[in-house]
Amino acid sequence: MAIDLTALRAHFPSLATGLAFFDGPGGTQTPRPVADAITATLTGPLSNRGTVTPSELNAERAVAEFRAACSDLLNVPAHGVVHGRSATQLTYDFSRHLARTWNAGDEIVLSRLDHDANVRPWVQAAERAGVRVRWIEIDPETTELDLDSYEQALTPRTRLVAVTAASNVLGTKPPVRRIADRAHEAGALVYVDGVHYAAHHLVDVPALGADLFVCSPYKFLGPHCGVLAAAPEFLETLRPDKLLPSPDTVPERFEFGTLPYEVLAGATAAVDFLAELDPGTGVSRRERLTRSLESVHKHELSLRARLEEGLGSLGDTVTVHSKAPDRTPTLLMTLEGRDAREAQAHLAARGVVAPAGSFYACEPFAALKLEDPALRAGLAPYNTADEVDRFLDGLASLL
Ligand SMILES: Cc1ncc(COP(=O)(O)O)c(C=O)c1O
Repeated sequence: MAIDLTALRAHFPSLATGLAFFDGPGGTQTPRPVADAITATLTGPLSNRGTVTPSELNAERAVAEFRAACSDLLNVPAHGVVHGRSATQLTYDFSRHLARTWNAGDEIVLSRLDHDANVRPWVQAAERAGVRVRWIEIDPETTELDLDSYEQALTPRTRLVAVTAASNVLGTKPPVRRIADRAHEAGALVYVDGVHYAAHHLVDVPALGADLFVCSPYKFLGPHCGVLAAAPEFLETLRPDKLLPSPDTVPERFEFGTLPYEVLAGATAAVDFLAELDPGTGVSRRERLTRSLESVHKHELSLRARLEEGLGSLGDTVTVHSKAPDRTPTLLMTLEGRDAREAQAHLAARGVVAPAGSFYACEPFAALKLEDPALRAGLAPYNTADEVDRFLDGLASLL
């Protein structure tokens, strides 16, 4: 079970530039089949959705194929797949839809580990609704969520628990299922930010215990958009504002205006591309995705071990803040006596792309008193051992 890295890399025009990309957590590079699918959809006969002309049917097919691909990727029914411009936009939308069901005096629980996209929309919706926000804290020793603080935060008035499946800076993967089970016992809904997680693992939304799950295809080789997944029966219970003539069906009820058919086709192509990385004998796309993403996981873990070993050999000059036992191949680091932006520029001059900043993770940065900017190195399916060595050599030459 392994991915053919040479064959995989040949699909990415941007890799031919010689740049080594460690900025996958900010957005991955795009393989040719994704770009081709976008072009083919845009330049083929294309009209608004309909059932009469070939151009209408092309739009209809792009939507149906997108929902089917996301259904296979996330293990939810196709009618539980909502397209959005980004995960942030979807979370803002759903914070407003859900807040309509809250009453003053209700409570919600957020986590200090989360990207601001799964924090601020809820904080602002709570403020408007007179709802109290409670927090799951981070254990600074392990960079894991402190589940005792979660127990204290849950009350009979908790209506929602919003938590990440993986931190975009530390990589920490909280025990989402455990968190979701406790939330459900308390009668609360669970909103999971899977944007960073979905780039590294095959998602099973029901197995995670998420009532709503959001992710972004541009983090897993696809185009820039967001996807929200939920059980269609649950979506039926929500009533967003909508235009009079727009469909009231689920999931169309949550998708405002004309859909970007070419973007949907690109996202479908990304799922198909992932499924073929190491498909084995899998018959269904879900089976092929399962095996392919297991192989990606193995590959990324072996590169992470190489990266960590190399960083370890740089001694006290580098502090790696990612240390939870269960985490993605994303490392956040600070450098002794060096600003992370200086390191970013030094690496960039050597064709190595690794960003510096706090990456919209204001809660984790504040909770752990992390130095801002910090340097982030995230691994993606197309990274190689040579590239890891280039990153390490670049850093060593600076330090
Ligand atoms: C963990 C996490 N959540 C949410 C987001 C926001 O995603 P989007 O750009 O699709 O709004 C990001 C983006 O980096 C992220 O890493």
